[in-house]
Amino acid sequence: MKNKQLILTKRPLGVPDADTWHLNEADVPALEDGEFLVENVFVSIDPTMRGWINDRKSYMPPVALGEVMRAAGTVGKVLQSKHEDFLPGHYVLGSGGIQLYTISNGKGWHRVDPTLAPLHKYLSVLGMTGFTAYFGLLDVGQPKTGETILVSGAAGAVGSIVGQIGKIKGCRMIGIAGGEEKCRKLIETYQYDGAIDYKSQKVSTKIKELCPEGVDIYFDNVGGDILDAALARLNFKGRVVLCGGISQYNATSVKGPANYLSLLANRGRMEGFIVFDFARRYGEAAKQLAEWVAAGDIYSDEQIEKGIENFYPTFLKLFSGEKTGKLILQVNDL
Ligand SMILES: NC(=O)c1ccc[n+]([C@@H]2O[C@H](COP(=O)([O-])OP(=O)(O)OC[C@H]3O[C@@H](n4cnc5c(N)ncnc54)[C@H](OP(=O)(O)O)[C@@H]3O)[C@@H](O)[C@H]2O)c1
Repeated sequence: MKNKQLILTKRPLGVPDADTWHLNEADVPALEDGEFLVENVFVSIDPTMRGWINDRKSYMPPVALGEVMRAAGTVGKVLQSKHEDFLPGHYVLGSGGIQLYTISNGKGWHRVDPTLAPLHKYLSVLGMTGFTAYFGLLDVGQPKTGETILVSGAAGAVGSIVGQIGKIKGCRMIGIAGGEEKCRKLIETYQYDGAIDYKSQKVSTKIKELCPEGVDIYFDNVGGDILDAALARLNFKGRVVLCGGISQYNATSVKGPANYLSLLANRGRMEGFIVFDFARRYGEAAKQLAEWVAAGDIYSDEQIEKGIENFYPTFLKLFSGEKTGKLILQVNDL
């Protein structure tokens, strides 16, 4: 049996080019006791992958040169097993990397049930993406009914869920996204009360107009100039949830917030978090999100691209905005 694996070959400066990775063919080795073989089907494609290929201290070690590219999550089917808990035919969620087949010892892997939800949803609203929105907004942001919450990257995987959780909690939600179509989607599908098109509108002016009583929580997915514009409108005791900074991930020199003194003047708080911090409570988030989805209170979008050879153009879509909702690469048929 032949595997195809995406191997990291160099550390890019700025936007990665196509030869940052290459596709390798290798034999699938025989299983040892305690191992099982997974045929990966869906692979989560995330902005954080850009950080993993820098040789820099972060929340987890970088992917080494010559190693299979890491994926935050993969869903697949067990084909062969010498493990007592994971048996052929089981569907499993883990971190299988960008490759057609993965051999695992089960550490960090869980079974998922394809009869409860379509399998790709376990990488989206019912997985890390949903958990990030849930814990980031509820635990780090601590919203109160009636507050105004501003969200950047609002039509992305995390932002689209944050908007809907905020509405469930009785908050006024304003989203920022790129382009007219995405802004329409914010209001018509993701339940935002107002939308700002950062590509064609002046963000600071629009925040003033759509948040006339200021911003109680700013959920930041993008950083850069938009973070500064939000800080300028932060309310007394306002919270900035530092979830991501995608506008800076390819920057060779990261732009920090010039308006940080707004936190001082407003006795505000800006707090970063990594979803893994909440790993012990994933069960709580999964149950609650599944209930909201079943009740029709939360809708999630996934954009599924096909073929491991299409990893690179798919990856670029994270930064060009040619996507809505959660980006997923399907590497094998279901
Ligand atoms: N802290 C954590 O544990 C954690 C976990 C998951 C994700 N994250 C972070 O959360 C953020 C959102 O993740 P996601 O999974 O929702 O990603 P995503 O689906 O790719 O959404 C991010 C959105 O950012 C927008 N964007 C891209 N470049 C931009 C730029 N230069 N300026 C402004 N907006 C830009 C894009 O939409 P437009 O078309 O609107 O530009 C895109 O839809 C990322 O920064 C990610 O790294 C953090």
